[in-house]
Amino acid sequence: MLDEKILKVLRHSKDSYVSGEELCKLADISRAAIWKHVEKLREEGYDIEALPHLGYKLVAIPDSLIPSEIKWKLKTKVFGRNVISYLKVDSTNIIAYELAEKGMKEGAIIVADEQVKGKGRHGRSWSSPSKSGIYMSCILRPSIAPNEISRITLLAAVAVALAIRDVASLEVTIKWPNDIMLDRKKLCGILTQMKAEQDRVDFVVLGIGINVNTPKSELPKGATSIAEELKSRGGKINLSRVELTKKVLERLEEYYNLMKSEGFEPIIDIWKDLSEMIGSRVKVSIHGKTFEGLAHDINPDGALVVRLDSGVLEKVSSGDVIMVR
Ligand code: BTN
Repeated sequence: MLDEKILKVLRHSKDSYVSGEELCKLADISRAAIWKHVEKLREEGYDIEALPHLGYKLVAIPDSLIPSEIKWKLKTKVFGRNVISYLKVDSTNIIAYELAEKGMKEGAIIVADEQVKGKGRHGRSWSSPSKSGIYMSCILRPSIAPNEISRITLLAAVAVALAIRDVASLEVTIKWPNDIMLDRKKLCGILTQMKAEQDRVDFVVLGIGINVNTPKSELPKGATSIAEELKSRGGKINLSRVELTKKVLERLEEYYNLMKSEGFEPIIDIWKDLSEMIGSRVKVSIHGKTFEGLAHDINPDGALVVRLDSGVLEKVSSGDVIMVR
C-alpha cells in the first residue's frame, strides 16, 4: 500500500525530484522507512534515482506485469482490480481455478512472466517463455447456463482482437472459436475452463495467452508474435505488455457489460466482422473424425454452422477447424 502511495507521488512529479522530507510527510513514515520502500520498488524493476540534497526521481518504469503497473490508470471497475502476479508458475489457469473454488471474486486476474506447464486447448501445451508474452487468467462468474459457455470464449476473442488492433495497429482476425490470427499465423490463444452445476455456471476461468515480444526462435510452428509482425512491417520492435494487458481488460469489461445489458447478439455481429472464416471452405476435426464444408454462420450459442456439400447444416460446438482454401 505504502509502495503504491510513494510510487504515485513519484509518478506525479515525473522528471523532477521529490524530497525525502516531502515523501515522509505524504506517507507518514520515517526517512529510513522511505528508503526501504524505494529499495523494494527498485527490486520490482523501477529505476528510482536518489540524490543527497534533491531527493528521489522516477527515471524509468518496468514493463512488468505487476499489480502497480497494471492498475495504474486502468479504466475498469471490475476486471483487473485484483491482480495476483507471479514470476513463474505451472499455469495461471490452474491457480485461477483453485482461487475461484475458494471464492475469489469476479474480475480477479492471475498473471505470470513465465509458465512452465502452460495449457492449450485439447490437452496441448502453450509455449510461455519468460517475460515475452502475456499469460493471464481471469475469473468470471457469469449468469449463464453451462451450454452457453462458448459465449464467453467468443466474447473474449472479440475483446482481445480489438485490444491488439488498438494497441499494435495490426489487422488481426479471429479463427473460430477463439484464435487470434495474422496472415494465417497464430498470435493468441484462449482457453476457457469452467465449474458448473447442471443448469448454472459456478465460475469460468478465462485463460489468455498472447505472443507479444516473443522472438521467432521461441515461437512454435505456425505461430507469430506482435513484435515479429511489427518488425516485418518496419515498425517498433517491442510493445508494452502492460499497455496491452490493460487494454485487454478494458475491452473485456466493455463487452462483458454489453452482453449483460443487450444479450449476446451484438457480440456475435462484431465476432463475424472480425472473423476470416465465415464463407470459407473449412475442414473440421472432431472426436477423431474429419469433414469438410463451407463455414456458413455462427449460431446464437456461439457454435459454428458448417454447410456440408450435401447441403446439410452441421453444428460444430467443439473441435478443431482449419481453412482449406
Ligand atoms: C490455445 O490452445 O489456443 C489456448 C491457449 C491458452 C493459453 C493461456 S496462457 C494463460 C492461461 N494459462 C494457461 O495455462 N493457458 C492459458
